[in-house]
Amino acid sequence: MSLPPPDLDAAVAHLRGGGLVAFPTETVYGLGARARDPLAVRQIFAMKGRPADHPLIVHLAEASWLSRWARLDGPLGSLAGPLAAAHWPGPLTLILPRADGVPDEVTGGLDTVGLRVPGHPLARALIAAVGEGVAAPSANRFGCVSPTTAAHVRAELGPTLWVLDGGACTVGVESTILDLSGEVPALLRPGGVSLAALEAVAGPVQRGGRTRAPGTLASHYAPRTALILTDDVDGERARHEARGLRVATLAAGEPQEHARRLYAELRRLDLTGVDVLVAERAAPGGLGDAINDRLTRAAHEHPPSTLNPTSDRG
Ligand code: TXA
Ligand code: MG
Repeated sequence: MSLPPPDLDAAVAHLRGGGLVAFPTETVYGLGARARDPLAVRQIFAMKGRPADHPLIVHLAEASWLSRWARLDGPLGSLAGPLAAAHWPGPLTLILPRADGVPDEVTGGLDTVGLRVPGHPLARALIAAVGEGVAAPSANRFGCVSPTTAAHVRAELGPTLWVLDGGACTVGVESTILDLSGEVPALLRPGGVSLAALEAVAGPVQRGGRTRAPGTLASHYAPRTALILTDDVDGERARHEARGLRVATLAAGEPQEHARRLYAELRRLDLTGVDVLVAERAAPGGLGDAINDRLTRAAHEHPPSTLNPTSDRG
């Protein structure tokens, strides 16, 4: 039986006591622990099945907490304030040199830390009441599709986890990650804030960074069913149906709506028992870049050449 949804006060007490609480953000649900509690943070990795060297984002209640977690005296430190002013609360994560005392468990041993102020009111209320940073990856098993509802979290991580229910996430894909720890700003992951919006504040941004991050593994965000990303949905569908495969399609649409529904659709289609998901590539730019990034990684898991009409995934 699932636990009933906790209220905010109970969730705050649970986090303060070293427990884990899944909570809604505007992007996807996060699996949170007090970021300064290494034992609690280790539980996140255990629950997700995530390798320990993959760093977590620390979620803050407000931008004024930045200096508790990051050093702003590097070459790009002066960009953090204007970027935070323009995009926080919101779907932007900044990578900065870490301040003294930020646990290795959070940063995966890196000398940098990822920080963001989420926009969802329940997330901010939770973090403000805890009174300190909350480390949280997306609340899914490592490599799988991120959850955008409380029910998805329970389906991924089990019925005994504490889950604050804040409804369906409005952005639907993870935050944009901008690395400010080097010599030039670098986009590590496209997301809810577009490259153009970043460049309007930070000047030219390099695509792709020097840091390896798990969300940047070639294969990630993957449904169990094989997925093909294409501009020609009808052609791909016909090709696979001709081989006797059962095909479901995912059409691109208006980008905000497409992003908002993307992961729920992948979960739903994954349960239909088809052999192949054929997803239409989104128009590039803005959220389309984030959608195509996730679908490209989802597609990497099962190259089309491995598809087999007799496959039965049970
Ligand atoms: O929208 C989001 O960002 C969601 C919500 C819950 O805030 N969180 C999320 O966390 O997507 P996660 O752990 O699933 O993905 C965070 C990404 C990972 O690819 C991680 O490697 C990268 O952020 N990251 C975190 N700290 C980093 C660091 N110091 N340097 C480079 N990459 C970092
Ligand atoms: Mg994730």
